[in-house]
Amino acid sequence: MDLSFDAFRASLADPERRRALLFRDRRPYFVLLADQFDRADLEQLCDTATAIRRLDRHRDGTGFLRGLLSGKRVMNLFAQPSTRTCESFVAAAEKLGATARVVSDLSTSSFAKGESVEDAVRTLSSFYDTLVTRHPDDDFAARASWALARSRRPVPVISAGSGKSEHPTQALLDVYTLRYSFEARGGIAGKRVLLVGDIGRNRAARSLAVLLLRFGIRELVVACPEQFRPEAAFLEPFARGGVPVTFHPTLGAAIEAAGPGLDALYMTRLQQEWDPGAEKKLGTSDDFVLHPRFRDLLRPDCVLMHPLPRVNELPEAWEDHPGFVVWRQVRNGMWMRAALLATMHDADGEIRARASRLGLI
Ligand code: NCD
Repeated sequence: MDLSFDAFRASLADPERRRALLFRDRRPYFVLLADQFDRADLEQLCDTATAIRRLDRHRDGTGFLRGLLSGKRVMNLFAQPSTRTCESFVAAAEKLGATARVVSDLSTSSFAKGESVEDAVRTLSSFYDTLVTRHPDDDFAARASWALARSRRPVPVISAGSGKSEHPTQALLDVYTLRYSFEARGGIAGKRVLLVGDIGRNRAARSLAVLLLRFGIRELVVACPEQFRPEAAFLEPFARGGVPVTFHPTLGAAIEAAGPGLDALYMTRLQQEWDPGAEKKLGTSDDFVLHPRFRDLLRPDCVLMHPLPRVNELPEAWEDHPGFVVWRQVRNGMWMRAALLATMHDADGEIRARASRLGLI
């Protein structure tokens, strides 16, 4: 591949060329964007996640799963804080028999000596079979993928959070959770979903919104501070797809307007790590807290989600709400990441076949 990095990045905006760059043999190879998955990819990943989840509980399933990626090595390169995402990738790799390592203190790596991203990932690719990266720079995972695509020994790359823009694996586990929640209610299509927080710079909510559009939701409702509205380019595909996006300046206003019509509510923390200034009181203002007094305005089957970590925006009082699925999201993260690793390494067909033979799916 003799594209410059700028040309590679520009090509990712074009759906046709994106697929050619990010997939190999019809399997995801570089996972950078929620939008790289089409509906069929998403359905299949969800089915694989369910197969893995059920096999893991089955007498004959655990050993089978552990044999699938045995001998493979996964490197988690995390340049931003993470417990959940990082550990869920480790757990996912181990469920399939791969080994996983974590490098999170980049000051002990050669980056601190001024090594380029290109050299660092090419070095890592000599020892590992998959790289999982989290980085404050929106382009880090893309640059790593570009460098590897041009090398003689490419290995797959998965973004586990790219700056303020993308968190594709979080979006995958979130749609998996929603699909399960809406199983008896006709699936995700036609649902009204409320996103809460500074959506303009919340990568989890942004990537989820992209996938909700794929599943044909009826309306995206957004409660966010005026200064953190997503940019026009982000909203454009919704206009093109005929999915209305309705903004409200506070969560209270959104619930008053849409309350009983909401099928799911996705809470997020304010992303204050991006704000300048050292002295910050963590947590959101009252305007974006899901107050227990809103309970009567939401249906009991409204699904309540949060990518975590939470600060003050989703009080514990909601944990006994029938739609509260936050801990299920965490667990699903492991199943979905295992499904993604299996799919990337050509083990997903075998997983679904075995699960089906055992009558599990
Ligand atoms: C999110 C992230 O890091 O983007 N957390 C996660 O991966 N579950 C959300 C956040 O930090 O607010």
